[in-house]
Amino acid sequence: MPLKRPTPGQPPDERIVPMRLQKFLARAGAASRRGSEDLMTAGRVAVNGIVVTELGSKVDPTCDVVTVDGREVRLGDEPRYVVLNKPAGYVTTMDDPQGRPTVRELVPDDIPGLFPVGRLDLDTTGLLLFTTDGELSHRLLHPRYHVAKTYRVLVQGIPAEDKLRRLRSGIKLDDGPTKPAQVRILHCDPAECTLEVTITEGRKRQVKRMFGAIWHPVIELHRESFGPISVTGLREGEWRELCAEEVSALKRVAEEGEAE
Ligand code: URA
Repeated sequence: MPLKRPTPGQPPDERIVPMRLQKFLARAGAASRRGSEDLMTAGRVAVNGIVVTELGSKVDPTCDVVTVDGREVRLGDEPRYVVLNKPAGYVTTMDDPQGRPTVRELVPDDIPGLFPVGRLDLDTTGLLLFTTDGELSHRLLHPRYHVAKTYRVLVQGIPAEDKLRRLRSGIKLDDGPTKPAQVRILHCDPAECTLEVTITEGRKRQVKRMFGAIWHPVIELHRESFGPISVTGLREGEWRELCAEEVSALKRVAEEGEAE
């Protein structure tokens, strides 16, 4: 299969870079990476009219015609979705006028228009979603869709049950009462306590302010999940693209909010 070669001297995203066929299929939304391999080995994928079953095969997204079951699939402007396990010390922005380290340094630089969905504080670690899909991002952040976000929280002291009840039923903050939260203690020692907290809002510094309001300041905060997406398996500073199933699950969350 003839492939165009990258032109030396051009920036990476303007070069014509061959990519692995299964990656192409996954990015084009034909299936997950694994599912794309299955499509290939089943003989359902053709490139320029020739069935390709070899998993290492490459395509040039700018000129090769890829079909699955005879139907063309294209990269086009397919939205992209990336999940990062954010380390502490990075500002959630793609451009910081003060020149501090930003999350931009941690995600792939060859996806034009990629931006974070919401934000985590400088010292908060864990799941940060990125996408080029403005519509979905808007829905996921909109209070109407109340997407569940789960955090692991290390606090000073051991919160008494009546204080946890206040968090569960909704606590008064200076910008209004919070919606009910799920709160459970994971483990405690005499000086501090680790809890799991799930909230459905996304107000500024919300978890820290909730625990501040019951006089148990947050020492460490880590986001474990955002709706159906989990950060489990990613080391700090690592990212991965969402698979097709995860993207569908995210879209379902947004649709559920709309139906209410
Ligand atoms: N709540 C906070 O207080 N900080 C975060 O970064 C996220 C949620």
